[in-house]
Amino acid sequence: MKGVILAGGTGSRLSPFTRVINKHLLPVGPFPMIYWPILRLREAGINEILIITNKRHINSFIRILGDGKELNVKLFYEIQRKEGAGIADSLLCAKNFIDEENFIAILGDNIFEDILTPYVQAFLKQEKGARVLLKKVKDLSRYGVPRLDDEKKRIKSIIEKPVHPPSSYCVTGIYLYDKRVFQFINAIHPSTRNEFEITDVNNLYAMENELHYDILQGWWVDAGTHDSLYKAYQYVNGDKTVEDDLN
Ligand code: G1P
Repeated sequence: MKGVILAGGTGSRLSPFTRVINKHLLPVGPFPMIYWPILRLREAGINEILIITNKRHINSFIRILGDGKELNVKLFYEIQRKEGAGIADSLLCAKNFIDEENFIAILGDNIFEDILTPYVQAFLKQEKGARVLLKKVKDLSRYGVPRLDDEKKRIKSIIEKPVHPPSSYCVTGIYLYDKRVFQFINAIHPSTRNEFEITDVNNLYAMENELHYDILQGWWVDAGTHDSLYKAYQYVNGDKTVEDDLN
């Protein structure tokens, strides 16, 4: 299986640093942020990884990560089509790299403790569809929140940034897809925040009863804000006193 890491976007919530440096290259412990999802993929046996970023920063990524040899992986790069057009729009750039295979996509600012292997294995057992990883969080209004069918272990639908959350879980930025994802991306329209939302893509799978899920056991953080970046730093340094509630 191949992996894709989405590392574009403006990173505006981490300004002023992100005026000059891509968010995914900011330090989290001893490494740039993006090392962590790369290491998680490698640990699950996923060694061919495409990094999708923006034109302004691609050279910085290449300078830091190169072809991946230092990390024992094979890295490839693509420039996202349009900055700020959303996660789903960026993911379209992976079409040639993925070809017809199943794959895993990770948002490059998602830092987490769980080993991915069991989730990848569970996905490979599915005949088709998609699988997302959930995490219980306090501030649900920042995320995509699923309505669950506990019995069938399927997601019925996801609401992005809900005012009235339908469960106490968020959909993390770890997604496993079959090849139909590119068809689904082409079928969606920009949201009210003018982005092609990955949640809309996932909802198309949910409508077909093909959106499976697992729940992350360990800590997880979307390190896209100053507070959560600080928390990610503490987590990777093994600080056990950090409360798992800031998300
Ligand atoms: C994105 C997704 C959201 C998901 C989150 C996880 O949010 O749209 O569904 O819960 O990543 O990190 P964004 O970072 O674009 O606000």
